[in-house]
Amino acid sequence: MSTAAPKKSNKSEVKPKKRKDGSPKRTSKPKSSEDRKEGKKRDRRMNAKNADRYELYQRAVNSPEADVLFIEKAYEHYRGEKFPLHFREDFCGTSSMCAQWLATDRERTAEGIDLDPEPIEWGKKHNFGIVSDGTERMQWHISDVRGPVERGPNGKRPDITAAQNFSYWCFKERKDLLAYYRAVLEDLADDGIFVMDIYGGPEATVEQEEVRSLGSGIEYVWDQREYQPGTGTYFTAIHFRFRDGSEMTNAFEYEWRYWTLNEIRDVLYEVGFQDVTTWFEGTDPDDEEEGDGNFELDPIGENCEAWLGYIVAAK
Ligand SMILES: C[S@@+](CC[C@H](N)C(=O)[O-])C[C@H]1O[C@@H](n2cnc3c(N)ncnc32)[C@H](O)[C@@H]1O
Repeated sequence: MSTAAPKKSNKSEVKPKKRKDGSPKRTSKPKSSEDRKEGKKRDRRMNAKNADRYELYQRAVNSPEADVLFIEKAYEHYRGEKFPLHFREDFCGTSSMCAQWLATDRERTAEGIDLDPEPIEWGKKHNFGIVSDGTERMQWHISDVRGPVERGPNGKRPDITAAQNFSYWCFKERKDLLAYYRAVLEDLADDGIFVMDIYGGPEATVEQEEVRSLGSGIEYVWDQREYQPGTGTYFTAIHFRFRDGSEMTNAFEYEWRYWTLNEIRDVLYEVGFQDVTTWFEGTDPDDEEEGDGNFELDPIGENCEAWLGYIVAAK
């Protein structure tokens, strides 16, 4: 069970263990065959000049349905039958997970935190069509995830807080990661859980490009540009290539620290989380190089070339 890829195949930013092509995607809004035909035509006309980088990012990287199913499973592991209602998405970007969360139950509420208003505005416009009452049950904070969250006196605290796509790797110093996890812990409901994804394995730090087709001649390129062993700094980027030969180079660029699972677990316990568990992706029965999209509780893991997992911390 190994893969060169830094990301799940139809998902997440960096995930090295690929999801099978058939793994869950957003299906809440089924498309008619006419819509599909139109979409294909549009895709074929897409090029580096007219493409929408957020649309392509979501297509390549996000799987909100699968992500929401996973956080529900993790919550059930800790809290049994209790139904989680309030969700906080850190580094929310286009807030696709919040939209999916709200679409799954009318009682549910969500909030998203991000420093950058641009992806938030994009997400408001494009992602909340799947929610019957739009953005009514949603609150955004354009702020730092390390800060206190401004809520009204009756403001609910999150049953689940999630940080997806390794976004917490933006904190390069241990003190910043500590401050972030401390803020999450303080803000969570008393029986809340914190979920974040992670990837690792020897290939995770190899300087290489991973190319994946998004269909209709469009390619997603995950570029592990540079890894500095002395500092842990990890430069990565996303490019998109099109049918007409054009390329949207550096559609997204990241300067991160590559954190290992054990470092993260240590910090989570240090700030006061009560229990930390690890969940690793299973292997595709038809192709042992690929992941199967299912994450199961596993304290040990398997030493693949590249692996994907979740860390879940309970308050
Ligand atoms: C890699 S994107 C991830 C977006 C989304 N979580 C996803 O899975 O697609 C990282 C996001 O984190 C935001 N960000 C970076 N540092 C932040 C911080 N300290 N506080 C809040 N947001 C931050 C960026 O603006 C960006 O939108």
